[in-house]
Amino acid sequence: MQIIDGKAVSTQMFVRLKKDVSSFQKAHGRKPGLVVVIVGDDPASRIYVGMKDRRAKEIGLNSFKIELPIDVSEADLLKQIDALNNDAEIDGILVQLPLPQHIEASKVLARIDPAKDVDGFHPYNVGQLVLGTAKLMPCTPKGCMILLDQTLPDLRGKKAVIVGRSNIVGKPMALMLLQRGCTVTVTHSASRNLPAEVLAADIVIAATGVPELIKGDWIKKDAVIIDVGISRIETPNGAKIVGDVAFDELGHAMAATPVPGGVGPMTIACLMDNTLIAANAREGRGQDA
Ligand code: GUN
Repeated sequence: MQIIDGKAVSTQMFVRLKKDVSSFQKAHGRKPGLVVVIVGDDPASRIYVGMKDRRAKEIGLNSFKIELPIDVSEADLLKQIDALNNDAEIDGILVQLPLPQHIEASKVLARIDPAKDVDGFHPYNVGQLVLGTAKLMPCTPKGCMILLDQTLPDLRGKKAVIVGRSNIVGKPMALMLLQRGCTVTVTHSASRNLPAEVLAADIVIAATGVPELIKGDWIKKDAVIIDVGISRIETPNGAKIVGDVAFDELGHAMAATPVPGGVGPMTIACLMDNTLIAANAREGRGQDA
């Protein structure tokens, strides 16, 4: 079985992105700007945001982090977004999810200028994805598609089964695979006979957050598995990071992503890629106007 090395693929992307940032700076006299807004102090969110900030700086982006207290009002958060929308130095805005209960996430995401929506979560960009004309696509499914493209020469006609229906991964992933000619099934916690659904798949996208839910005997011979899950579990030998798929049971698969080192690093690389796409589009629009 081939191990799909997301770390290596993302490293190649970072090398290319660093060059693209440098070309952008030469052409426009400024660096592309990315801001991450984080509300509260969820430890997992803090780790992600810290990694994004470090990577962004490594490739030469102007990286900003806005940390707001857990009890910030929705109105104040929206005001912050408005200010970032109007800031010419900012090309990409990412609001880290989840947000606290008292804030309506959909309202916040819809407030972000769609041209700066590097997460691809604004309803306009979701609509573009449905139509197959999206420029800014959600980072995690975009990273999954890059890994799939490196593994399978032709996706047309392949049966893809997605486990999980989130707005962040499952739903956009279904649209991207459909766009590429796959026959797509989206399964979720209410699906009947999940093992049989997964067993029919040439491509499995696992995005449930349930550690090692998907067993080796759910996987067809020569299937390709992309594991988006990342969970910390306790074992008799100490804590361990695992995905949604029992990786050790995949000997008969064609290829699979490990956890960690598979999809995770690709998400951050795709966020940087989206920031450059947004920055170039904003500069282009400036010239047209
Ligand atoms: N939380 C978990 N994944 C994501 C993501 O891709 N974007 C944002 N904004 N928050 C997240």
